[in-house]
Parts: sequence; structure tokens; C-alpha cells
Amino acid sequence: MQKILVTGGAGYIGSHTVVALLQQGYEPVIVDNFSNSHPRVIDRIEQICNQRPSVVDADLRDTDALASIFQTHEIDAVIHFAGLKAVGESVTDPVRYYENNVQGALQLIKVMSQHGCHRLVFSSSATVYGNATRMPINEQAPLQATNPYGWTKLMIEQILRDLCVADPAWRVALLRYFNPVAAHQSGLIGEDPNGIPNNLVPFVAQVAVGRRDHVAVFGGDYDTHDGTGVRDYIHVLDLADAHLSALRALDGLDGCRAFNIGTGNGHSVLDVIRAFSQACGQDIPYQVVDRRPGDVATSYADVSRSQSELAWQAKFDLAQMMQDHWRWQSQNPQGYGSD
Ligand code: NAD
Ligand code: UD1
Repeated sequence: MQKILVTGGAGYIGSHTVVALLQQGYEPVIVDNFSNSHPRVIDRIEQICNQRPSVVDADLRDTDALASIFQTHEIDAVIHFAGLKAVGESVTDPVRYYENNVQGALQLIKVMSQHGCHRLVFSSSATVYGNATRMPINEQAPLQATNPYGWTKLMIEQILRDLCVADPAWRVALLRYFNPVAAHQSGLIGEDPNGIPNNLVPFVAQVAVGRRDHVAVFGGDYDTHDGTGVRDYIHVLDLADAHLSALRALDGLDGCRAFNIGTGNGHSVLDVIRAFSQACGQDIPYQVVDRRPGDVATSYADVSRSQSELAWQAKFDLAQMMQDHWRWQSQNPQGYGSD
């Protein structure tokens, strides 16, 4: 049995990955400061798995707390999810983002080094491709940041690449997620954004459940099949599974390697609204408004490297993603604060 430290394991993607780890016989240890997650998620993980994961309530930048985790547990590898992720907030409060994300990653790497742990899977993002225009996007596409959040991902990727050059003991997988959506099929865990959701699917789900009255569709004049923005939506269960594939592939990597994690298919905003409508059995009111500044028309992944080198491939289609997202939202209309 391998012990895996999961930073940010109480969050949206982390909690689904912890479930996958438990179900496949790993022993996850969560470290999370609950700055963007609810403690109830741990009860829900236990309900799904009949096992309670170890949890340390600490900030990643607290090196004493981090070191004591490595002293208590023999950690084989780390999956590093912990970070702040709201693009708009990163523009208004960049220092907080650099401090939390970049400093957090640096402290983690230092403590890992001190304890002889050199295996890491890092949550990166398709945001590192900036305004890519050639589709599908492969891992060799130029890297570019368009906001402080994106810069934190690029900087951490660069730190990890430099680290692997300096010390050949390290094995690092950079997973560049496209657009994670949906929820565990039990409906017990899912995404629970604070305030007004920035991302499309959580917003659509809140309209369906009556928390908001309509979806604002950001732009209807893009050069896409119906004029609305196209993205590569990926089921969070497929995403969780990609982390297990990455863990298994780590030892065979030559230092640091980036992988796109998406389905390779693009769907428009209207495709998503239609699929969600079908899943929930009601019309989703929407209104086309101006484009959102900084948005690209189309973004979807070339996933051939993940398929060949991680032996991983997404299984779920858009209809299943929307059904599973709806199950979570309808069972938990107010998220984890529902009961
Ligand atoms: P999330 O906010 O739900 O989870 C992140 C977790 O990290 C939260 O539980 C939060 O409390 C914790 N955390 C944040 N800073 C911390 C710190 N300093 N110390 C300890 N814990 C801390 O986000 P998510 O959607 O699960 O995303 C996980 C990772 O994946 C993030 O790094 C994010 O940037 C990246 N990512 C997410 C998406 C997405 O659309 N959700 C897309 C691409 C990349
Ligand atoms: C967002 C992030 C990006 C991150 C990516 C994956 C922003 C500006 N960018 O981009 O950094 O890498 O998620 O997590 O937040 N849309 C609407 N109405 C809405 C919300 C969105 O029409 O209320 C449209 C958008 O214009 C876009 C699509 O829906 O065409 C998806 O938007 P979103 O979920 O925010 O994802 P990204 O734009 O890919």
C-alpha cells in the first residue's frame, strides 16, 4: 500500500482523487487549510468509501506542520492540488495568489527534498497555453500567461522543470487540466463554488436549481459552429483517474513531463446548456451578452501523449458529465451547506 500526500485534498478535484485513491488501495493523507473547502467533504468521502482518510488541517506554507506529516507518515509520492484558482480574484489580489500558490509549492518541494521524497504530480492548467490559436493544443504549444493565476501555474511548472534538471532523483508529472466538470456518481461530493460561479457549468447548475434566473452566454459571434465559445470539458472522475495513471507512470518518466488532460473534444456553451437541460428535464433560460474579456473562441486538447505515455483516456461524454453534475447539484442545492 502506498501513502500519497494529497495537498488540497478537501477541494473539488482533490476530494474525487482521494476517493479514487482509497478505492484502489492507496493510503491518502490530506493536507488542506479549508480556505476553499468544507470540512463536511471528509464525512462524504468516508460515506462513499467506508474509510476515513487521514486529514491534517494546515496551510502548506507552514513548514513545521508539513515536516511533521513526513515524519509521521512514510510518504511515497505527493499530488499537489492546493492553490487558489479564481482568475478574476488573481487580477485584483495578485500578491495573495503568488504567495499562496508559488510560495506554497516552494515550501512543499523543500520539505519533500528534506525527507527524500521526489515523486510529484502537479495540478497545472490549460491556462498555461494562453491564447493558443492552433487546435488541438499539444504539449509543445508555446506557453503564455494572461493573468496572475496563469503566471503562478507557469512559474511553478518552470520551478519543477529546473528542479528536475538540477537533481535527477525527481520525477514530476505536470497535468494540464482542460475544463473539469461533473461530480461523483453518488451525488455526495461535487463542486461547491463560493459566491457567484465564474465557470460555466456550476453557473448553469445553479440556474437549474433556481439559485440564479438565467445564464449569460458570453458572446454569440465567435468563429465556432454556433457562435459561442468551445471548450474541452472533462469529467472529474476521468480527471481523478488520470492522477492514478500519472502516479503509476512516474518512475518511468525522464525528469519532468507535461500531459494534457482533456477528452480531445470541444463543446460550445449552447451544447452545454442543451445537454444540461436534457439531464435535468427543464429548460435553462439564457441570454447572449457581450464577450468576456480575455476569452478565446476555442480550446481543446491533443490527448495523444496522455494516451500513449500514461495509458489513460477519458471515458465519459458530455451527456454523462451533465447528468452527474445535476445529481450532485439537485441533491445539494446549497452545496455542502445544504443540511
Ligand atoms: P479547490 O479550490 O476546490 O481545491 C483546492 C484546495 O486547496 C481547497 O480545498 C483549498 O482549501 C486548499 N488550499 C488552497 N491553498 C492552500 C494552502 N496554502 N494550504 C493548504 N490548502 C490550501 O480547487 P480545485 O478545482 O479542486 O482545483 C485543484 C487544483 O487544480 C488547483 O491547483 C487548481 O488551480 C487546479 N486546476 C483547477 C481547474 C478547475 O477548473 N477546477 C482547472 C485547471 C487547474
Ligand atoms: C476558465 C479560466 C481558465 C481555466 C479554465 C479551466 C477564466 C477567465 N478562465 O476558462 O483560467 O484554465 O477555466 O478551469 O475564468 N461562459 C459563459 N457564461 C458564463 C461562464 C462562462 O458563456 O457564465 C462561457 C465562456 O465564455 C467560455 C465557456 O463558457 O466560452 C467556458 O467558460 P469557463 O467555464 O469560465 O472556462 P474557461 O473560459 O475555459
